[in-house]
Amino acid sequence: MFNKRVKVKDLLASEATGQEVIVMGWVRTFRNNQFIALNDGSTNNNLQIVVELGMLDENTLKRITTGASLKVTGEAVPSLGKGQKVEIKAKSLEILGDSDAEKYPLQPKKHSLEFLREIAHLRFRTNTFGAVFRVRHALAFAIHKFYNEKGFVYMHTPIVTASDAEGAGEMFRVTTLPFDNPPRNEDGSINFKEDFFGRSTNLTVSGQLEGELAAMAFSEVYTFGPTFRAENSNTARHLAEFWMIEPEMAFYDLEDNMNLAEEFIKYIIRYAMEHNREDLEFLAQRLAEEEKQLPQDKRSEMGLIEKLEFVINNNFERITYTEAIDILLNSPAYKKKKFQYEVKWGIDMQSEHERYLVEKHFKKPVIVTGYPKEIKAFYMRQNDDGKTVAAMDILAPGIGEIVGGSQREERLEKLTERMKEMHIPVEEMWWYLDTRRFGSVPHAGFGLGFERMVLFVTGMTNIRDVIAFPRTPKNAEF
Ligand code: 4AD
Ligand code: MG
Repeated sequence: MFNKRVKVKDLLASEATGQEVIVMGWVRTFRNNQFIALNDGSTNNNLQIVVELGMLDENTLKRITTGASLKVTGEAVPSLGKGQKVEIKAKSLEILGDSDAEKYPLQPKKHSLEFLREIAHLRFRTNTFGAVFRVRHALAFAIHKFYNEKGFVYMHTPIVTASDAEGAGEMFRVTTLPFDNPPRNEDGSINFKEDFFGRSTNLTVSGQLEGELAAMAFSEVYTFGPTFRAENSNTARHLAEFWMIEPEMAFYDLEDNMNLAEEFIKYIIRYAMEHNREDLEFLAQRLAEEEKQLPQDKRSEMGLIEKLEFVINNNFERITYTEAIDILLNSPAYKKKKFQYEVKWGIDMQSEHERYLVEKHFKKPVIVTGYPKEIKAFYMRQNDDGKTVAAMDILAPGIGEIVGGSQREERLEKLTERMKEMHIPVEEMWWYLDTRRFGSVPHAGFGLGFERMVLFVTGMTNIRDVIAFPRTPKNAEF
């Protein structure tokens, strides 16, 4: 019975010839005891259901409230109303689930994003979140399509791991030991031999290391999974649980890596532009309205669609870290002491620096290469200058770092030496080093933060609004 349902999106795109259809969805509004705007999430556009006067009894009419779910059987007829071609002349109407108008928190009016975050279980039912999550879906699908077309093998790397892939110590521990009275060694430290896995384990910060193992057999692989960081960054760009796409390619150098990343980003944006035009236009409109509240100098120079088109149609700028620092040192912003954080060779660029480069100086995505080795991970290939590594970060307007990647250190001695310098446990990582012992090859890879990508494409400004149920410091509701 239920699968005879026609989706609102398909119905709105069809010819109305008086055919009988069954539709189901949730009431957005009900006007004049006659016009129901019904939404089923297949599109932001509502389907108008016309209920003839006298068709329903008083009690049923009262139960058609915002949020209630309905099954309607009726005729698809050409609409006389503005903004839609097709509407449904109801023949019968069944209320599947009531929604108490007094208690339902979503009213047909504009709610703030902050308020909607508190009711994240219901916010999918708004136009904004409908559009955001359909675009998120399209991007996820396009990612698999892109790598599949290129012959990459999709790897599922472990979520629970004993290694710290980034060596930054920002991991969530996974344990079944009782926290009030854990087993201890003689020296008082916790005895992880008694833990579930017989050792100390964590949630993964990155699937890269396992990706590298697979790339040493399949040549080109990618992962797309959840990653976890216990960094206490309460910003609009950081999540404690986020999704990351990590391709890893044998026989690639840094330039091949950059070329792939640029092609990849353009491909998935183009896919969303082609398949989710309506949603993106809605989001563009939303952003334009929101920016009207901002002072002139804080508004974007381009609309959302225009920005995405610009990114697809132009080369990303490519500069070295050293050049980036020089640009910053010579910038009016630096001279006028507008930067809060220090600028000099060796710094880990802060978001204000990255945003200056992409938003003020180049006004387009920028790929920065050759970072100081001190601020990058142990696995990055060391350059001949002894100071820098073959790293590349992609910085995007409005976001900052969206991709982090590198050519990997494939030389066993150099890698082991660097790991020791950085206090990475060399013995425990024997399996990683084995790739450098047996048929090591030049290889490279990168990680794209999925939510940052969704932010960029949807024009949303807070990362909490592009993942269904955000995990951030002091927050794991839903
Ligand atoms: O630069 P990161 O830390 O690089 C890695 O994890 C490498 N293992 C990737 C690789 O080479 N395979 O993270 C990669 C990207 C960042 O550029 C950013 O977009 C995103 O992941 N990211 C976060 N997104 C949301 N919240 C956080 N806390 C994030 N940390 C990183
Ligand atoms: Mg990074």
